[in-house]
Amino acid sequence: MQSGLDSITAIQVLVDLSRLLAEATVPDEVLARLADAAAGRLDVVAVVVIGVGDDGATRVLAARGLPPGVVGMTSPADDFDGLLVRRLIEAAEGRAGAARTYPLVSGGGLYGALLLLDRGGGDVDAVTEALEEGMANLAAVALDKAFHEAELRRALEELRQSREALLRAERLKALGEMAVVVAHEVRNPLAAMGGAMQILETRMAHTPADQKIVRMVLERLRGLNAMITEMLSYARPKELSLDSVDLLALAREVVEAAANDPSAAGVQLRHAGAAVLCRGDRDQLSRVVLNLVINAMQALAGRGSVEVSVSQAGSCCELAVVDDGPGVPEAIRGRIFEAFFTTRGGGTGLGLAIARGVVERHGGTLELLSPPEGGAVFRIRLPG
Ligand SMILES: Nc1ncnc2c1ncn2[C@@H]1O[C@H](COP(=O)(O)OP(=O)(O)O)[C@@H](O)[C@H]1O
Ligand SMILES: [Mg+2]
Repeated sequence: MQSGLDSITAIQVLVDLSRLLAEATVPDEVLARLADAAAGRLDVVAVVVIGVGDDGATRVLAARGLPPGVVGMTSPADDFDGLLVRRLIEAAEGRAGAARTYPLVSGGGLYGALLLLDRGGGDVDAVTEALEEGMANLAAVALDKAFHEAELRRALEELRQSREALLRAERLKALGEMAVVVAHEVRNPLAAMGGAMQILETRMAHTPADQKIVRMVLERLRGLNAMITEMLSYARPKELSLDSVDLLALAREVVEAAANDPSAAGVQLRHAGAAVLCRGDRDQLSRVVLNLVINAMQALAGRGSVEVSVSQAGSCCELAVVDDGPGVPEAIRGRIFEAFFTTRGGGTGLGLAIARGVVERHGGTLELLSPPEGGAVFRIRLPG
């Protein structure tokens, strides 16, 4: 009979283990701490923790004193002959002769078992057996807690996400409705103001200082009008007017137009690729690509290059706007296509949302690729 443990020591081991397990927050940590404590405090050849899946099959989750390859070993639910135990004993290469098994049961759930391999050839004394059983029971309770906590965390996270999505959707709806009202109520007076201002410009602005002021007002009015147009085209997308579109020609025109934008200063602009024909709304696609190019030029802040490249990818037509700027930070990649998401002071955050909407109404996709060498690639794929 194996012995050597007095009951005071055994209790101390259990107290220590319960403290260690109380700090474990995830199931894997509980298993690892159980395996470490058993290997460190028990007179055994090896310690194995096995888990039981929903289908009753068992799987080695942690092992101490055996080659690392045993972790992950499985056996089917009907392993009545103890095949897994035999394979574990074999893995101990002659050092182990027998295994003692303690189920990890708590709250009505069977999580698995603690397997202790020893040299064999005898029973253990009552204190050792009580200690081993106590360790398994403590671990099972900790596992129960860790699983419940993990589930709770997952449920809370899901709740948080769906709440956020709901809030976002509500906000978008309200903003979309507001955009329509603002567009109608503001755009007309704005146009009238612009017209009046132009008349004033010709009639009375004589000093250079006055001319500067009038030009500034007109410039601001144009900016406001552009923003309202953007809001409206998000809230009320235009129907597509389909035609056969040469994407390479479109790319060339967009590059030419983009060169007039103030953000083009210091930026190299080019188009490349082969002539590719697809069906689409030429005006709307042009605006999408122009928006992507302007975004890229704004990201470059006066230094770098933007290429609009066109290609045939299988049955799809592909157009990519590639820049060698700072790229989109990982933390916001999931959000840049959301309406009203912007990192630019003065940005509306509508450009990419509208662009994706237009491309998707064509039955295509608009995606951001972030190549490892940096920069940003916005790739449009349209059905051929
Ligand atoms: N080429 C790019 N490089 C880096 N960031 C980009 C690029 N294009 C878009 N972004 C990011 O995506 C955000 C949303 O773009 P967009 O929808 O066009 O709105 P806006 O241009 O009004 O900010 C930008 O504020 C910017 O942070
Ligand atoms: Mg933009």
